[in-house]
Amino acid sequence: MKVNNKTLFVTVISIKLLAILLISCQYLDKGNIVENDSQTTENKSIINDEITERKIDSVLSLMTIDEKIGQLVQYSGKWDATGPSSSVSDQYKNDKLRKGEVGAMLNVSSVASVRETQRIVMENSRLKIPLLFGYDVIHGYKTIFPIPLGESASWDLDIMQQSAVISAKEASASGINWVFAPMIDVSRDARWGRIMEGSGEDTYLTTVIGVAKIKGLQGNDLSNSNTVAACAKHFAGYGFAESGRDYNTINIGEFELHNTILPPFKAAANAGVATFMNAFNDIDGIPSTGHKYLQRDLLKGEWNWPGFVVSDWGSIGELIAHGYASDLKQASEIALNAGSDMDMQSYAYEASLKELVKEDNVALSLVDDAVRRVLRVKFHLGLFDDPYKYCNEEREQNDIYNQAHLNVARDVAKKSIVLLKNNNQLLPLSKSVSSVAVIGPLANDKNTPLGNWRAKGEYNSAVSLLEGVKQAVSKNTKVYYEKGVALTIPTIKPGENQFSTPIEFNTTDTSGIRKAVEVAKKAEVVLLAIGEDAYQTGEGRSQVDIGFKGLQLELLEAIKKVNKNIVIVLMNGRPMDIRSASEMVPSILECWHLGSQSGNAIADVIFGDYNPSGKLPVSFPHHVGQEPLYYNQKNTGRPYGLKQVTYSAYRDAPRFALYPFGYGLSYTTFKYDNLTLNTSEIKVNGELEVSVNVTNVGDREGEEVVQLYIRDLVGSLVRPIRELKGFKKMMLKPGETKTVTFLINSETLQFYSVNKKWEVEPGDFDVWVGGSSKAELKERFSVINE
Ligand code: NOJ
Repeated sequence: MKVNNKTLFVTVISIKLLAILLISCQYLDKGNIVENDSQTTENKSIINDEITERKIDSVLSLMTIDEKIGQLVQYSGKWDATGPSSSVSDQYKNDKLRKGEVGAMLNVSSVASVRETQRIVMENSRLKIPLLFGYDVIHGYKTIFPIPLGESASWDLDIMQQSAVISAKEASASGINWVFAPMIDVSRDARWGRIMEGSGEDTYLTTVIGVAKIKGLQGNDLSNSNTVAACAKHFAGYGFAESGRDYNTINIGEFELHNTILPPFKAAANAGVATFMNAFNDIDGIPSTGHKYLQRDLLKGEWNWPGFVVSDWGSIGELIAHGYASDLKQASEIALNAGSDMDMQSYAYEASLKELVKEDNVALSLVDDAVRRVLRVKFHLGLFDDPYKYCNEEREQNDIYNQAHLNVARDVAKKSIVLLKNNNQLLPLSKSVSSVAVIGPLANDKNTPLGNWRAKGEYNSAVSLLEGVKQAVSKNTKVYYEKGVALTIPTIKPGENQFSTPIEFNTTDTSGIRKAVEVAKKAEVVLLAIGEDAYQTGEGRSQVDIGFKGLQLELLEAIKKVNKNIVIVLMNGRPMDIRSASEMVPSILECWHLGSQSGNAIADVIFGDYNPSGKLPVSFPHHVGQEPLYYNQKNTGRPYGLKQVTYSAYRDAPRFALYPFGYGLSYTTFKYDNLTLNTSEIKVNGELEVSVNVTNVGDREGEEVVQLYIRDLVGSLVRPIRELKGFKKMMLKPGETKTVTFLINSETLQFYSVNKKWEVEPGDFDVWVGGSSKAELKERFSVINE
């Protein structure tokens, strides 16, 4: 609809009159205008159900343009800042809250603070539309689970859903009704600091984990007071930041975008995720925040998704720095027209949307659509029925950081550990081992295991490795401890968050190495805890060097001279270059940043109470120069011929990973055989079954992640050399054989083809099943036209 000044004036006056008539009806659904009947619909996720839409119509019809724009505004509270700070005063924000010109807050948490903020709106504003309260609950609220990259190594969708259920329960007990998770950016560059926040390099794995997380956070009914609205982020392409430098541009072809980056988002939309967050980066010159094709045409158009899109922090304003808008007004025009519904911390919409509507540069109908989407989420959360429904002091007391939650945190943590190397079966250790030396900068660190983005995880609250080991061993075991070297100087202090200070590494103080060597000499086995500080990964924490910082390798070399039985307990937020360390020791446990129960979970694995079952969700390189590195590369025209020069390889490092995607050892051994297809030919819409026998040929019970890969041999576009298309995690007793069956159908085989649509192309396909992306058992089948 075209709105000129006159029609706008008339509309505003009529709205005002209507508002005066109806104002006493408060939330409208409590008056006579609509039925108070939100519970009758079966599906409670974000959908366009008629009753809710009628309620939204009623609210919309009452709103002034200022109130509408207000719903599209999100401010950060004064407690935390998770982006560059602004000069806007609390007074200004409070005035806006009182006028009902704010739709959502972020970084306001605790029942008292949420209640106090909500009350400002409920007691002062004209229409009393409740606020949303968003928070970055990335891997737990106060009970901290492994960082998402680590948790993804569990390949256990149930446990990942469960940790999301607990995160939602704790956050909602603290007043939060919206979390900025899951991050479903496929990321293949270990240099990128935010690789820790996602599920790694694979589209399929990221997709299924994202859906599990959304189910866990939102439950079946968003209006339950212990579920929260989730947010699929960052739409789109952020994980492909060029050279791994955060916020950097991405250059990706249209087909790769559709085939690699977008599928997790499509699945999130289908799973009913309430919100999306757009991204800081530009894609081939178009910033995501201003990307009309992605947000309006694809997400809201083709995918018909009814939730709302929030900008990333300040990303509307950043259109100016990108050189895509000349001022805040133009930035607002671009962003709103492109489908960014809510402005997080740019102060752009409130400054210019009204004028843009008046001038007809933004259609009122688009503003209304954005407001409708925000109100839809609020209705589905049940906030119109009770704006304080997440403000329950009793729940805040009981539902946060309790023993039941910590037990799950330990369970998730132990399942996330990946055994990378175990020569001569050094692990597991007996609990009555005579002596263990726990050494290293991270050995008794109670803070690093919490990782970055730890929400309300309390400083120094994790169980350290040393504590976990002491708990586990017999009373006759001697446990020695030496730090050896410090990793950083200084670490981030209590009360500071990840945005406060860059960290500095210790590169000079070697004074502790001698003492560490002394205890290593005395011990039967050394557990060496090295890796990365919590704040080496996360937002703004990209690195060009992904090796061991500081003096950690010097410490390892010194210890190795006196004791060969070294287990590296690696704690890190990204795939690291561990090549030389890996050559020096018999055993390596990849322990990520495992959260609150880190030390206990690691001890469970070290002493054999739990047989490790994690598999890498990202490739570990031989050298940083291989990055971005991922298993599902394309073959190139010159894939082989390592003895010659003119082939796609490096002259000073291997082409593939040191530890590949999907890889992880167990204390037992699994044998794969009898790979069988029930047919060798199917039609494009047909299906076939692939089955394989998996036998535990060792003498311990263990879990295996059985993985299915395919390759489309010839396509209208070049296809990857392998793609993960399914997996099953299962427990096998010693000697036990299980037959695992996968179904392959058009969903498995289709891709976004040269015809710009998802389709299966006839031709030959290879299929592998095994315990990593290097699986060797292979069969072939053909797809023929109908
Ligand atoms: C910026 C980050 O990119 C985003 O992931 C986060 O949710 C927002 N800041 C809010 O803290």
